[in-house]
Amino acid sequence: MKYNTVIAKDDNISIIHASELIKVGEVVGMPTETVYGLAADAVNEEAVKKIFEAKGRPQDNPLICHICNMGMLEKYTSFIPDLAYKLAEAFWPGPLTMILPKNDLIPLSTSGGLDTVGIRFPAHRSAQKLIELSGTPLAAPSANLSGSPSPTTAKHVYDDMNGRIPYIIDGGDSEVGVESTVISFENNSVRILRPGFISAEDLLDITENVIIDNGIMHSISETDKVRSPGMKYKHYSPKADVTIVDGNLIDFIKYVQENKTENTYSMIFNSDKENFPYKALVYGDTSEEQAALIFKNLREFDELGADRVFVRSPEKDGVGLAVYNRLLRAAAFKVIKL
Ligand code: TXA
Ligand code: MG
Repeated sequence: MKYNTVIAKDDNISIIHASELIKVGEVVGMPTETVYGLAADAVNEEAVKKIFEAKGRPQDNPLICHICNMGMLEKYTSFIPDLAYKLAEAFWPGPLTMILPKNDLIPLSTSGGLDTVGIRFPAHRSAQKLIELSGTPLAAPSANLSGSPSPTTAKHVYDDMNGRIPYIIDGGDSEVGVESTVISFENNSVRILRPGFISAEDLLDITENVIIDNGIMHSISETDKVRSPGMKYKHYSPKADVTIVDGNLIDFIKYVQENKTENTYSMIFNSDKENFPYKALVYGDTSEEQAALIFKNLREFDELGADRVFVRSPEKDGVGLAVYNRLLRAAAFKVIKL
């Protein structure tokens, strides 16, 4: 254990302390409105190296850079399409990451060797303050060990990062619960590389050309063009074998009855609860509620010692697409249609 990891309450003194750690090249657990991030100075290669080490993350998977004003967007990119300004106007600060051509200020170790950089202006006030006081963009991937569910509480970050980083700011439960929507620009279109709280429908309010990348609903094969390196890695997997079971409640119950073991759990809607006879965690009724609970539940299944998890299939539109995308990865794309 390299560090004695401290969880600090979210106040000015802690944020100042965290910014001082960032300035000397350390990594800090940072709350954001989506999930917690592992933040370090995006232009300090040694600091960025520590992020990859703490997470156990493959070096070719690029980091998102977090900014706190539009001046920083212009400072670290080499070209900004008009559409990016329009989207920033509509959705920033907030859970949208835009992939843009980077300039030489962003080291290749931050961008995973790519000539582009993902930029996000988070809405969480403490994240904004930390970026401002640090005086530099903060590179921050989700604060989980590579392959684990993203953390939505300071405790989740501690569970994965105890001994690996010096400091975590406890900003409470992440409001959104799934990571930001990641988009790239192609001619006049926007391509969604990772769905999030800012939905395709939201983007369509601003531009009529929105492409949903194939990698969102399908597993990437060796020969596919991978537009976002994160898509090719296994993700969010709890220890249990997860299956998405698509059908009505009665058929779902029958399926669980026939396929359960001693340690099988289900993930069901709130409204199912009264009529569901087996061990289960609920994950809300609306897509927004489900987004806020999905990673928390996936972690809890591990604590409960679940060996199989059967999940009621969520909606696939709006924020539901983000929920479904994360579940597909947790389930290694196993979906049963009843
Ligand atoms: O909500 C979020 O985005 C959180 C919080 C902490 O801000 N961060 C986050 O970072 O989820 P991370 O590193 O876990 O996921 C970033 C995703 C990865 O799948 C990565 O491959 C992709 O974005 N990405 C980052 N930069 C990229 C780039 N230049 N080109 C293509 N994909 C990129
Ligand atoms: Mg992540």
